[in-house]
Amino acid sequence: MSGGSSRISSTGVIHTINSFAMGRLHGKNAIVTGAAGGIGLETSILFAKEGANVLMADISAPALDKAVAKLKQLVPSAHKVDIQVCDVSKEADVKAMVDHLDAWGGVDIMFNNAGIMHADDADAIDTPEKIWDLTQAINVKGVWFGSKHAILSLRKHNKIRGSIINTASVVALVGSATPQLAYTASKGAVLAMTRELAIVHAREGFRFNALCPAPLNTPLLQDWLGDDQPKRLRREIHFPSGRFGEAIEQAQAVLFLASDESSFVNGQDFVVDGGMTKAYVTPEGPPLAAPKNNVSLSEPVDAIRDTGIPEA
Ligand SMILES: NC(=O)c1ccc[n+]([C@@H]2O[C@H](COP(=O)([O-])OP(=O)(O)OC[C@H]3O[C@@H](n4cnc5c(N)ncnc54)[C@H](O)[C@@H]3O)[C@@H](O)[C@H]2O)c1
Repeated sequence: MSGGSSRISSTGVIHTINSFAMGRLHGKNAIVTGAAGGIGLETSILFAKEGANVLMADISAPALDKAVAKLKQLVPSAHKVDIQVCDVSKEADVKAMVDHLDAWGGVDIMFNNAGIMHADDADAIDTPEKIWDLTQAINVKGVWFGSKHAILSLRKHNKIRGSIINTASVVALVGSATPQLAYTASKGAVLAMTRELAIVHAREGFRFNALCPAPLNTPLLQDWLGDDQPKRLRREIHFPSGRFGEAIEQAQAVLFLASDESSFVNGQDFVVDGGMTKAYVTPEGPPLAAPKNNVSLSEPVDAIRDTGIPEA
């Protein structure tokens, strides 16, 4: 059964969003770094649900074990799903991770998503140099290594299409009076690097886009905000929707960027922020309802194709 149409390009069939039988990433090989939690895990789940073979990579082995078990519970129909421990700041680790996909036919989609926001990251005066260096090593060098080895794999396997998505942040676009200077600088570098890679490799068919998430409702941020209402309100007030984003909302955008549906989207700062970076005075009233993250569910999600956003 096919739920929709497909169109033929000179290079083969590009399946449209309506090809229910196939999945939007059918047959593609994807790597997700930072896959053990947050955006990376939600994205791995969606990728698997949409027919991709997924290599979930993270620095934390125990967290990866938990994450892959969750994915398999939610997507019993998943094709190939493997895990790989990888520190993205180490080129040998990144190379080994990408080489893992040689047996699958090489990389089609690379989501360079792993990143840190260190608790000791502060302003120009108080940020320790070692925290600066660590942040750049993971957030910038990690994205470079991931992009470099994805390009090498795409070439090695004679691919005529590839999608590389690099996670940046809205802090690369707007200034914040709650500084994390090393983190902000690292995400600015991700934007600039992604843009240049997009242009250099455009005629090879390799697309590069940067994802710019707004602050999310993830344990990382929420545990830190805790019950401190003024601290929380200072951030929430900037959201036109009145709420933080959810990891699943980032994952949906990554799915689009990874798929051939976004074939003419290249070199973009792809902002997923509920309008935050376009807002001046935001509306009053209760916040909008948020979609549920897949990790919060226990039943398989592979037959469900809605967005998870509650009905009015
Ligand atoms: N959560 C937010 O509010 C927010 C906002 C904007 C951007 N981001 C970015 O989104 C990305 C994902 O963050 P998240 O919110 O899902 O956070 P998260 O902490 O849940 O996920 C990050 C993952 O990266 C892994 N990781 C850390 N260092 C690594 C390394 N050296 N090598 C490989 N893996 C490593 C961690 O183990 C973790 O599983 C990050 O790049 C982050 O900077 C997050």
